[in-house]
Amino acid sequence: MTLDEIQRREARHFLPVVNRMPVALVEGRGSRVTDVGGREYVDLTAGWGVCSIGHCHPALVEAISEQAGRLMQTTNLFYTLPQLDAAEALTRLSPAELSRVFFVNSGTEAVEGALKLAHRATGRSKFVSTTGSFHGRTLGALAVIGQAKHRDPYRDLLPEPVTVPFGDGDAAIAAIDEQTAAVIIEPVQGEGGVNIPPAGYLARLRKRCTETGALLIFDEVQTGIGRTGRMLALEHEGVVPDALTLGKGLGGGFPVAAFLCSEGVAETVTRGDHGGTYIGSPLATAAVNAVLKVVDNEKLVQRSAELGEKLGARLRAYAEANPDKAEGERGQGLLRGLVLRNTENAGTIPRRALEQGILINVTAGNVMRFFPALNIPEDDLFESLENLLALISQ
Ligand SMILES: Cc1ncc(COP(=O)(O)O)c(C=O)c1O
Repeated sequence: MTLDEIQRREARHFLPVVNRMPVALVEGRGSRVTDVGGREYVDLTAGWGVCSIGHCHPALVEAISEQAGRLMQTTNLFYTLPQLDAAEALTRLSPAELSRVFFVNSGTEAVEGALKLAHRATGRSKFVSTTGSFHGRTLGALAVIGQAKHRDPYRDLLPEPVTVPFGDGDAAIAAIDEQTAAVIIEPVQGEGGVNIPPAGYLARLRKRCTETGALLIFDEVQTGIGRTGRMLALEHEGVVPDALTLGKGLGGGFPVAAFLCSEGVAETVTRGDHGGTYIGSPLATAAVNAVLKVVDNEKLVQRSAELGEKLGARLRAYAEANPDKAEGERGQGLLRGLVLRNTENAGTIPRRALEQGILINVTAGNVMRFFPALNIPEDDLFESLENLLALISQ
């Protein structure tokens, strides 16, 4: 089937809310994907930060296939062994305080769950979030999102937001009060442009939340499971939240996410407060268990840190040598951004990169974001990077 035919078929039926790239992908292996015409691309987006262990990792494919042939779904009325293993694994990799886990199907649902928890735990309904933040697209997540373009179309359905500039400790402290149920924040903003807060900022939020009885929620849907060179981004500064969301890399391509909370928060909910048909299905949690084993066996957290350093150094060197093209580099581990000067040019890069056989993203208007698989071969990463830098330099 040609791309043309695919585009015509899609145009008839698919809800027109997505800007497609002119490529239909049919296969993925590791950091490479193949289109319907047999052309191969290096994927520097890892299926949007999801396929952190690479596309179709054999261990994940095997675990999913094996579990699919055994038991895919029950309801949460029953115990299942993959879910039990996954819950234990997530509490092991999280700070000891976060001892309770609940599985859901997507990052936005993890955020919903954490927000609901905060309301139950505090009896309050004010949420503080940060400008530029992304937390998902369900109504609860849109209520705290810091990006007007996602929020505005649904403004009439949402409470007035309390958003403070990301990284501004004084503004956050002024906004967090005794009415605040929770502060929700990404320890490193992903969609917002790979923004890292100043040192000590997260600790100040922690302190203010404790003083006022508000919960601190870290949204690690994008940063969790090794992406920033630590298993969790919160480890960089050792700040422990009351609730934590995970998604994306957790399932390696299988749609699964989770939220965790402390014992104290868990004590405030009662049976029936939350649920869902598919939550933590044996199939989804078998995927989580397989992914976590691969991350451990292949030492991918360490690799993310080491390779991320090299990538960051190359991006910094480019920005220093080409100040007219790039303002600088920022990021941690294998979540990196090159901040481009020419926004108009930046917007065209993902399509132009396709012609070079590269999948890349530009977010927040001018930040070329790298979030490849944590086990991407070094040659694939750096050869495509040089091609991209040549594109920017044109
Ligand atoms: C930090 C963060 N939170 C939540 C979400 C929403 O996750 P999902 O698209 O799986 O609903 C995303 C997705 O990009 C994200 O980056």
